[in-house]
Amino acid sequence: MTDGSATLVVGGASGIGLASARAIGAEGRRLVLADRDAAALDRAVESMRGQGLTVEGRQLDVTDVASVDDVVAAVAAEHGLGALVNTAGILQLGTVLDVTDEDWDRMLTVNLRGAFFTCRAAVRAMRASGGGVIVNLTSQSGRTKSFYSAPNYVAAKAGVIGLTMSIAAQHAAEGIRANAVAPGIVETPMTAEVYTAEQRAAMQAATPMGRFASADELAAVVAFLASPRSSYVTGQTINVNGGSFMQ
Ligand SMILES: NC(=O)c1ccc[n+]([C@@H]2O[C@H](COP(=O)([O-])OP(=O)(O)OC[C@H]3O[C@@H](n4cnc5c(N)ncnc54)[C@H](O)[C@@H]3O)[C@@H](O)[C@H]2O)c1
Repeated sequence: MTDGSATLVVGGASGIGLASARAIGAEGRRLVLADRDAAALDRAVESMRGQGLTVEGRQLDVTDVASVDDVVAAVAAEHGLGALVNTAGILQLGTVLDVTDEDWDRMLTVNLRGAFFTCRAAVRAMRASGGGVIVNLTSQSGRTKSFYSAPNYVAAKAGVIGLTMSIAAQHAAEGIRANAVAPGIVETPMTAEVYTAEQRAAMQAATPMGRFASADELAAVVAFLASPRSSYVTGQTINVNGGSFMQ
């Protein structure tokens, strides 16, 4: 977007969100990073300013609707909200038998309810300003069988796809596009410690490209979807998975 409006990257202090923010910033766009981790947010903003990018940070917890609404409204008022990139999330591994009642609620609250809060606030702002674009991070495991992700994570990520399609269908006429990105395994802090060596080897063996993605490889697709270069793409879930799931 070349109109001076901001791209808000929620979950932008780490991993795919941070790499996406750098990629979008490299295209000359104004950035607002939002995350619950204040220290990581400060580090990210400082390092991006060191690269000459126009960026500010806002602490935000996606489980707190007031915090989400306040940040989105402030960005919209100060800069205009051209794009929302929604990457905040948590991961759990295991089977349905491992998921406690508390695990279920925590996962759905962060990964699905949080995505709903941010999308709703963004649609409100974008309608008022004549349009915008939303990119939500889902997961391969929300589209096909998962390797090791727990069913609460899988259910939340499947829900994000439905949320994305619904927004795309109902708000296209208002100039709002919404798409989702479905990664396989990406080398980020989220996945650095959780898998055993055997699990990593099994997942790589099941991936035709034989390796995991870098966050930059996800960022390239997110930046495309968040830009006018994808102006006729909406309601889609784009796989970025080295061929491990093909559709
Ligand atoms: N890494 C992978 O292999 C992979 C695969 C498929 C999907 N994804 C999805 O991509 C997204 C980004 O994952 P990542 O690998 O970059 O993870 P990450 O852990 O590196 O980054 C996630 C960010 O979200 C923030 N966050 C978590 N809970 C939050 C909350 N309640 N409010 C605000 N911010 C919060 C964290 O502080 C962190 O900065 C997630 O939605 C994840 O589920 C990741």
